[in-house]
Amino acid sequence: MSDQAGIATAPHARVENVRLGQRLSPAGGIEILGADLGAPLSPSLKALILKAFLDHRVVVVRDQHLSTEEQYAFTENFGELEEHVGRHSDARYGIVHAVTNLDKQGNPTDALETRGNYFWHTDKSYHALPSLMTMLHAVELPPEGGDTQFANMVLAYERLPEEMKRRIEGLRCVHSWEASRIASGSRPASPEEIKERPPVDHPLVRTHPDTGEKALYMGTHAATIAGTPEAEGKALLAELLAHATQPAFVYTHHWRPGDVVMWDNRALLHRAVANYAMGTHRRVLHRTVVRGTVPV
Ligand code: OGA
Ligand code: MN
Repeated sequence: MSDQAGIATAPHARVENVRLGQRLSPAGGIEILGADLGAPLSPSLKALILKAFLDHRVVVVRDQHLSTEEQYAFTENFGELEEHVGRHSDARYGIVHAVTNLDKQGNPTDALETRGNYFWHTDKSYHALPSLMTMLHAVELPPEGGDTQFANMVLAYERLPEEMKRRIEGLRCVHSWEASRIASGSRPASPEEIKERPPVDHPLVRTHPDTGEKALYMGTHAATIAGTPEAEGKALLAELLAHATQPAFVYTHHWRPGDVVMWDNRALLHRAVANYAMGTHRRVLHRTVVRGTVPV
């Protein structure tokens, strides 16, 4: 399956078996049913997925059983895969990594070293080139809870009072991996890590490169507002976050075994929810991420 000819001649996942399921919430999310993402992706199925992705921002493909190789190959259809922060590996499939609540011994723990996923954020916004799409594939789920929430930043921007839109126009946020680790109560960054990931700034309101929509772009990695006194910037960011994550703008995903969830980091904030017995039950999701472009 790895050579070009093999991919070209392999049977395509037939789009005629695939259908859009229900919209999952007013804030976003759509189901895709009847797909086999382990098979090479046909142009028509790719187009269907991409349209659903742009229209609904969170795409939930049910009933998948992807190997890491298959998840890698499927993700590659959408762009360049990112390496996970802090893991340098030449192994092609090392880029498919696991998001878990497991400690170094492989046991469930409620004392994770890295807790950032449990705070509203958009992936890798502390990089000059933040993530475009993140994909999680449910491998092991707790019997209850362990949800993921998504907040629609296009809707949140649209519904801001005009006065606030004028106030934030042109502002830029400073996104900092180091500050984010402190804010989330994670293991503090080492001096070497801080040097490797200096803060970057991005527009607080970004324009979606594919749809032209304006969206708030902030979250826990956004520490301050450039050129604004720190306390004032933080207060404004807290006010915007409270507005943007109100229930009307949020879709809560209740995971089912086999789910593949793909989301648009350019238009959403997301977070894991600790609504499960973290110290008791395993939660393991396989993750791949597609690199995005400079936010403008
Ligand atoms: C992520 C993330 C949330 C979750 O993988 O980027 O934030 O619910 N995950 O595990
Ligand atoms: Mn994330």
